[in-house]
Amino acid sequence: MRKIQMACILAALTAILMQSCRSTNPDEAKMDGFINDLMKKMTLEEKIGQLNLLDFGIIVTGQKGSDNIAEKIKKGQVGELCNVMGSENVRNIQRIAVEESRLKIPLLFGLDVIHGYKTAFPVPLAMSSTWDLAAIEKAARIAAREASADGICWTYSPMVDICRDARWGRIAEGAGEDTFLGSAIAAAMVHGYQGEDLAADTTLMACVKHFALYGAPEAGRDYNMVDMSRNRMYNDYLPPYRAAIDAGAGSVMASFNEIDGIPATANKWLLTELLRDDWGFNGFVVSDYTGIMEMVDHGIGDTATVAARSLAAGMDMDIVSEFYLNTLPTSLKEGRVSEVQINTACRRVLEAKYKLGLFDDPYKYCNPDRAKDIYTDENRAFARKIASESFVLLKNDKVLPLQKKGKIALIGPLADTRSNMPGTWSVSVDLSKPATLKEALTQAAENTAHIIYAKGSNLFADAAIEESATMFGRSLNRDNRTEKQLLDEALQAARGADVIVAALGESSEMSGECSSRSDISIPDVQQRLLEALVNTGKPVVLVLFTGRPLTLEWENDHVPAILNVWFGGTEAAPAIADALFGDVNPGGKLTVTFPRNIGQIPIFYNHKNTGRPLAGDGKSFEKFRSNYLDVSNEPLYPFGYGLSYATFDYSDVKLNTTAMDARGELTASVTVTNTGKIDGTEVVQLYIRDIVGSITRPVKELKGFEKVSIKAGESETVNFKITPEMLKFYNYNLQYVFEAGDFEVMIGGNSRDVKSTCFTLTDQ
Ligand code: BGC
Repeated sequence: MRKIQMACILAALTAILMQSCRSTNPDEAKMDGFINDLMKKMTLEEKIGQLNLLDFGIIVTGQKGSDNIAEKIKKGQVGELCNVMGSENVRNIQRIAVEESRLKIPLLFGLDVIHGYKTAFPVPLAMSSTWDLAAIEKAARIAAREASADGICWTYSPMVDICRDARWGRIAEGAGEDTFLGSAIAAAMVHGYQGEDLAADTTLMACVKHFALYGAPEAGRDYNMVDMSRNRMYNDYLPPYRAAIDAGAGSVMASFNEIDGIPATANKWLLTELLRDDWGFNGFVVSDYTGIMEMVDHGIGDTATVAARSLAAGMDMDIVSEFYLNTLPTSLKEGRVSEVQINTACRRVLEAKYKLGLFDDPYKYCNPDRAKDIYTDENRAFARKIASESFVLLKNDKVLPLQKKGKIALIGPLADTRSNMPGTWSVSVDLSKPATLKEALTQAAENTAHIIYAKGSNLFADAAIEESATMFGRSLNRDNRTEKQLLDEALQAARGADVIVAALGESSEMSGECSSRSDISIPDVQQRLLEALVNTGKPVVLVLFTGRPLTLEWENDHVPAILNVWFGGTEAAPAIADALFGDVNPGGKLTVTFPRNIGQIPIFYNHKNTGRPLAGDGKSFEKFRSNYLDVSNEPLYPFGYGLSYATFDYSDVKLNTTAMDARGELTASVTVTNTGKIDGTEVVQLYIRDIVGSITRPVKELKGFEKVSIKAGESETVNFKITPEMLKFYNYNLQYVFEAGDFEVMIGGNSRDVKSTCFTLTDQ
């Protein structure tokens, strides 16, 4: 008993010391002094007010919104707002805080600036398919410049949840299935948002989310529970969050899911021991939308209990639940929470405001002169470029690029829509602005080709499903004609054409939050349309809109060309025209595996070998080995896959030495030749397999990549440096180590088609 008391006293003393920081860094010392003075003046209620984030209202994703916001701001009961846009609006609300509240503490204004602001870039899964870190960083930089010109100083991005389950709609919001690539993209986005100087008025504070493991919900159903071994967490799922934090992300958003039975929102191991004690994070943590409130339904306590548990776990800020505001004062009196805990959370929030420079100038993001920085021609030109780089050419039997002549039938429910171009989570985009594909193709065809349009079908046969899949102003204007009438019109257009472009797939709200699907094929009525178009015997190009991998076995077998365009942002349509007509040569590569059927899920390239891997070529069933009776183990399109209008040939892999020691390094090289007739870019990918380990190791892991532009007929040699550091993994005891032994090096244009050789890491 006495031991426990001593431990509690020690913990309290440490926390008190931590509360009044004594930094030796002069800038931090100045900040600490400022915040110490301010906190001395604050009442308990005002401190709790800093932990209360309310929603101003454009998007209510939880079960509750916010009310009486102005009154609460005046009383010092609000520290932050989300979903306010426009520098004038922000200024007016900020004025209430800094003129009408007692201590005049400025508010933070946050928003989901996920893939651009008014200029929208492709959805993150699409952006990752560019494998272009500099471009991704630039997109985040532009997003920050635009949003900060409109009053925003904090973005709920990057979303770095690794996902291996295409049923989960939020797969669209992340960088795919791979840890190495996902970590590199996480860091690039943080650098893009925060720039060199968080206090500049053109940068945003990043918020890495959803911490943690949110991309692995059971059954791919959003908000569902996660159950995962520590080993998988450490090796596969946690590194991208850590990369974002190492890159300096100022804040972290907890995920909705539970981890080992405790929701992330109240998980002390996660939010304090791992995040702060191990990783050294010193920013603030915010819950996800109503995340604290939801723990009552999770079944871990009543209102006061879940709030107290969150605070004790290291959760600093409550989004929309208002459980902190409503319960912490009483919980403090009852001894369920401590003043130290409240002070610690309050300090972290005030530090963020200080670092953003809001105490010096609360209106710094409300400069009307900066409206000229938003949706500029330059930003849009960049968005068009990155969109065309994100498209993945899945198949091309000599149909693409199209020529700008003759008659092109453009058919499909996604061919003539503006609002479905930008993709999910584009809350700040003016949906009336993006061009439709019909407009963009007509313009690009320059009167030398004639575009004949027909809708062809609705999105789904079932009107109720279509309504759920076209929310937030993304209606596809359901056509009341019968399926047959729509089809007849389409076939008439198709018969008169030289080539058919079928714009099919998902609407933009079929991926993103709460958009899980149990069937990830192209919806029913559209499939029937596509079959009928193919049966005309005319060449068909499937322009596929999607925010997730789809099952496309039939399409791959029967449609001569498939260009996966994801959701490409505000400039998607002209970018698609660029790619279809060959003004841009598509070079995107998948960052997520496309399964053959839904039963293969979860399917990902860096799986383990099992004790019974297939012995043959994987094409036929093998009894008592790890496979299926009714489908092969191979995906339809592997991770890293994507074609080009050029073709690339890889030489054998050369190593400068076949052995290295713990302090050594070696170089693997390959020569890539563009054997096609046009210039193109290729993402050259390096994979490594640790052949024998103290724990089982994946059959291959991405360890490097380089995107190279190669002129037709020319060759480039790509060199990858390999060091022992790159061979590290978390062992059974979660120590980060490399182990001596043999390794296989594989290089290729995707994770399946690789050339390989071996080296040895020696003990000394
Ligand atoms: C989402 C977050 C988002 C938040 C605030 C939640 O529903 O899960 O990703 O940042 O809402 O809009």
